[in-house]
Amino acid sequence: MGFATGLTSVIALTLSSFILPMRAYSLIAPAKINLYLKILGDRADGYHELVMILQSLELGDQVQVRANGIEKIRIYCDHPEVPLDQTNLAHRAAQLMVQQFPEAYANYGGVDIHIEKNIPVAAGLAGGSTDAAAVLVGLDLMWQLGLTYPELEAIAENLGSDVPFCLAGGSAIATGRGEKLDPITNSPCLFVVLAKYRNIGVSTLWAYQTYRQEFSHGYINDPDRMKTQSSKISSSPLVQAITRSNGEEIGKLMHNDLEKIVLPEYPKVAQLRETFARTGVLGTMMSGSGSTVFALCESA
Ligand code: C5P
Repeated sequence: MGFATGLTSVIALTLSSFILPMRAYSLIAPAKINLYLKILGDRADGYHELVMILQSLELGDQVQVRANGIEKIRIYCDHPEVPLDQTNLAHRAAQLMVQQFPEAYANYGGVDIHIEKNIPVAAGLAGGSTDAAAVLVGLDLMWQLGLTYPELEAIAENLGSDVPFCLAGGSAIATGRGEKLDPITNSPCLFVVLAKYRNIGVSTLWAYQTYRQEFSHGYINDPDRMKTQSSKISSSPLVQAITRSNGEEIGKLMHNDLEKIVLPEYPKVAQLRETFARTGVLGTMMSGSGSTVFALCESA
């Protein structure tokens, strides 16, 4: 699948319009991979300070928001592993919009959210985060709020570290918890093959906690050193390789700290990675906290 460049932020398609306003919107919610994930240290809020390079894919869920005229948020999805209750991040996104914009909710009523799940679940591909981002955009449109991108981003941050990137899409350096974004323009059009065992899902919480247990002795504690380290990424060889469309260099320079935790615990995931490496692809790596492994390729 093409790593579409810059075109893959949440995209809204109008579904139906009565006189005014629109009653439903259908959105494409793209998956992401991490080309780079470095854990620098602990943050005061209990999260980790990260340096990441994130890339949207053409692969995406289809998310439809539709005014239902009753005071309820309802999720519909036929994927057996997708929860239909408040634990679904898309539900929490709608709930947050209701809290922030009670007048719009009173005017337009509740929302039915239909998710056509194409992105594997618990896969390190931000499937839940991207659906949540789509709900924010969909409700902004449906409720005619006219929110600016920074306003949407501020709401997205409350839902999860990856949600702001899912709103923006494309290619970006992500720092802080993952919510501070610096877009990378001119990223190349490459192809990725994704592989994931259906029955292996990795908990992001577990991966980070275990990383902390094993590697916190190497964490940077000095805030100034952390900042200096974090700012180095923008002039790094990997970012240069991305902006120069050098697929071979990108493949060689990709890195993910969480592999140190997940691969030993899940030998089948490690095996997938080794299998890809033997096929002569540009590069291979686990995405995020896994369990998806991707191979970067020059051509389809
Ligand atoms: O932000 P999100 O809910 O996606 O993160 C899931 C879990 O991953 C968090 O509860 C936290 O334990 C861990 N995490 C972290 N540092 C980050 C992002 C996530 O420790 N920067």
